[in-house]
Amino acid sequence: MTLAHRFSAPLLALARLLLAQHSHTSDREFNLKLTNLLLLCILPGIPGAGKTILTSILVEELTSRFHDNENIGIAYLYCNFRRREEQNKNNLLASLLKQLARHQPILPEVVKDLYNRHDAQRTRPSFDEISRSLQSTIAMYSRVFIVIDALDECNVSDGSRTTFLSELFSLQTKCTVNLFATSRFGTEFSAIFSNSLSLEIRASEHDVRRFLDGHILALPGFVRRSLDLQEEVKGEIVKAVDGMFLLAKLHLDSLSGKKSLKALRTALKNLPSGSDAYDSAYKDAMVRIEGQIADEEELAKQVLSWITCAKRPLTTTELQHALAIETGESKLDQDNLPDIEDLVTVCAGLVTVDEQSNIIRLVHYTTQEYFRRSQGQWFPGAEANITESCIAYLSFEMFLQGSCQTDEEFEERVQSNQLFAYAAQNWGHHGCMAVTSDHDLGVTVADFLKKEANVSASSQGLFAVKRWSGDSRYSQRTPKNITGVHLAAYFGIKSVVQLLLDNAFEADSQDTDGQTPLSWAAENGHETVVKLLLKTDKVEADSKDNNGQTPLSWAASRGHEAVVKLLLQTGEVEADSKDNNGQTPLSWAAEKGHEAVVKLLLQTDKVEADPKDNKTDKVEADSKDNNGRTSLSWAAENGHEAVVKLLLQTGEVEVDSKDNKYGQTPLSWAAENGHEAVVKLLLQTDKVEADSKDNNGRTSLSFAAENGHETVVKLLLETDKVEADSKDNNSQTPLSFAAENGHEAVVKLLLLNNSDCAIESDDGWAVMELAAFNTHNSVEQLLVTCGIPEPEDLYGLQSMFLGN
Ligand SMILES: *[C@@H]1O[C@H](CO)[C@@H](O)[C@H](O)[C@H]1NC(C)=O
Ligand SMILES: *[C@@H]1O[C@H](CO)[C@@H](O)[C@H](O)[C@H]1NC(C)=O
Ligand SMILES: *[C@@H]1O[C@H](CO)[C@@H](O)[C@H](O)[C@H]1NC(C)=O
Ligand SMILES: *[C@@H]1O[C@H](CO)[C@@H](O)[C@H](O)[C@H]1NC(C)=O
Ligand SMILES: *[C@@H]1O[C@H](CO)[C@@H](O)[C@H](O)[C@H]1NC(C)=O
Ligand SMILES: *[C@@H]1O[C@H](CO)[C@@H](O)[C@H](O)[C@H]1NC(C)=O
Ligand SMILES: *[C@@H]1O[C@H](CO)[C@@H](O)[C@H](O)[C@H]1NC(C)=O
Repeated sequence: MTLAHRFSAPLLALARLLLAQHSHTSDREFNLKLTNLLLLCILPGIPGAGKTILTSILVEELTSRFHDNENIGIAYLYCNFRRREEQNKNNLLASLLKQLARHQPILPEVVKDLYNRHDAQRTRPSFDEISRSLQSTIAMYSRVFIVIDALDECNVSDGSRTTFLSELFSLQTKCTVNLFATSRFGTEFSAIFSNSLSLEIRASEHDVRRFLDGHILALPGFVRRSLDLQEEVKGEIVKAVDGMFLLAKLHLDSLSGKKSLKALRTALKNLPSGSDAYDSAYKDAMVRIEGQIADEEELAKQVLSWITCAKRPLTTTELQHALAIETGESKLDQDNLPDIEDLVTVCAGLVTVDEQSNIIRLVHYTTQEYFRRSQGQWFPGAEANITESCIAYLSFEMFLQGSCQTDEEFEERVQSNQLFAYAAQNWGHHGCMAVTSDHDLGVTVADFLKKEANVSASSQGLFAVKRWSGDSRYSQRTPKNITGVHLAAYFGIKSVVQLLLDNAFEADSQDTDGQTPLSWAAENGHETVVKLLLKTDKVEADSKDNNGQTPLSWAASRGHEAVVKLLLQTGEVEADSKDNNGQTPLSWAAEKGHEAVVKLLLQTDKVEADPKDNKTDKVEADSKDNNGRTSLSWAAENGHEAVVKLLLQTGEVEVDSKDNKYGQTPLSWAAENGHEAVVKLLLQTDKVEADSKDNNGRTSLSFAAENGHETVVKLLLETDKVEADSKDNNSQTPLSFAAENGHEAVVKLLLLNNSDCAIESDDGWAVMELAAFNTHNSVEQLLVTCGIPEPEDLYGLQSMFLGN
């Protein structure tokens, strides 16, 4: 049955309505009206109102209507708050590109190019590159529909959402894109989309009734046999649901076990509604779960605790393996794998399986939130149980041989032991919390870590990360000679570190990368473990790994302020030590933008160090690494405004220093990457040459123009100290870079600033043609901007170029 059949006419009609505006227009008309006919909707809705359902209907409707029309492209995204990390802006955009490229009869050249370029160099395409390919691909269609569900669940903290959204909007203005998005109420989107067509989704009474009609037969026999009773049930549920579609299902589920009229009526009277309705409904579901026979109750609680506590979404197979583990057994008994349907059934409607991704999850984000809050009440000890299960899994006989010797062998291991990767990567995260209050668990973990084979197999599972599709030997690059102390320190499990040390394990052994347990604890910010290790007096606080990085350097680069402080206070570390690339802890902290750590390091002369062993020197604010790059240069490149400010305030840094590899100044790095605030700060110092050239003769303006950073271009032009038309060693000008990359706004700015419009040179016309082509403007339009009437033969040139 299709979704359209399962859900009600009004919802469907709404979806049709949204399409109708376009469907009745012929392609010709449509194209004519295109510029003012962009459909953009936001469907803010209360939780559980059925937004995702509507999105699905829309996608299905679009697909069935247009699937054999090559001129119409459809792409959709379902954002999910549990997949925030992988759903970053690049991946979201790439997903749109993939869907639209695939629908073309042959793979578009731009996409092929993008793939080949990055496959060869083993890199990932940048946001801009994906965006450009996406634009070209969209241009191959006469219209494109992009449907996005749950924009509000997309990651905010890394700025993905904002960047992604503004990219979508700019696609809308540049190309023929119809955008359709849903979001929860009360998010900032209401404002962002204020100019768009917007509809609030509420499940209407009619919708809820239709749903109930289809499901009423799941109720006990005495209800099935009485139409009157059915009407009564429907009436009460509709009243309690009040627009929240999800509740209809939960309420219905809550009645399925009622065996008498009296019990049914009592339950109907007490159906929760209003803002706490979900909590009450979930609580009721849990009470029902606890009312099942003991085996089912236990199974349900295990399922719910795994799904709630898992550090990432689990596939059905992963969960099956997790539930089949028997502690103390040497392997997984296939006969012990539970049936997926049973898992879903015993959970009283709280759990569902995404058919596309095969991920098993809670029905709704409100469910996840509910269990986060109440997990201690429903399944205390869940973290401990999960830790034990992971460890039991990682101790299976088949891992006895330790780490795998080839990628093929490793991949085979991951494939045939579906929980292996999850367990290896997360046992310690689960254990970290649980061990603190559970001594026996600590002992179990320590026993596990005492065995070399256990440690080497699971640390390979932890560190083997494929960085690109053809990344060979990735499983072999993981550090070897890792001890249990290393792993416990990595995850920050203090009591286990202590237990191992008590058992004569070495506190300061180096793995094959030269990292010690202290180095790992510092890298991951585990203050208590750092303290413990330092107190043993058996560790070298300042040991260097193979890359020359000390624990301080690691803690600084990861921004772990408390650990940095601890290490500095020992008086046994060199605060300004250089690694093999010449980077100091300050340089690392500046590069990564850790303001508090930068501040700490700049104040080292004030740090109270242990006077008996006085190694804590003063940090040099302006030291250069092997490429001649200073902390200021790193901070500028990455746009860390606060750090730039701190460094400038010291009065001890050369503001305009050039590195020796590229000859770029901090200003040039900031301009290249579009960091407007930093560019402003640097220009204000009056100590920078705004137009200095790097080793290839390129200026800050040239970089900013190439990358389309309009505001930075403006800032630089306003100084009146930059040559708008300067040529680099390859004779390229800022204008030619902007033209080549289709940055229309920058092209216009540069033309306006340039009395001769850059067309006096031999290839001036070619540049203009390129600009016109890449900005979808005509050359005339661009020339009008700079006030020059175009010579007549330009038309000939242009049509030749564009082939029409
Ligand atoms: C958001 O993305 C960043 C960077 O990818 C990641 O570190 C962070 O954990 C994500 N936030 C959430 C809540 O997933
Ligand atoms: C945790 O394990 C104990 C002992 O095996 C068991 O009684 C309890 O039900 C488990 N808890 C959960 C949430 O699985
Ligand atoms: C792995 O650790 C477990 C204890 O959790 C132990 O019983 C098992 O023997 C260890 N495996 C190996 C290969 O030593
Ligand atoms: C790893 O440890 C073994 C045994 O302790 C030792 O023989 C070997 O040299 C170490 N390998 C490296 C690369 O340090
Ligand atoms: C420790 O370093 C400080 C500042 O660098 C210096 O003034 C002091 O004399 C040193 N103390 C000893 C014992 O070397
Ligand atoms: C670029 O030109 C400058 C000045 O003419 C020259 O010093 C520099 O070596 C050139 N760079 C390259 C990479 O050729
Ligand atoms: C160049 O543009 C900037 C800002 O757009 C403006 O302030 C400046 O006066 C212009 N210079 C010339 C020569 O037109």
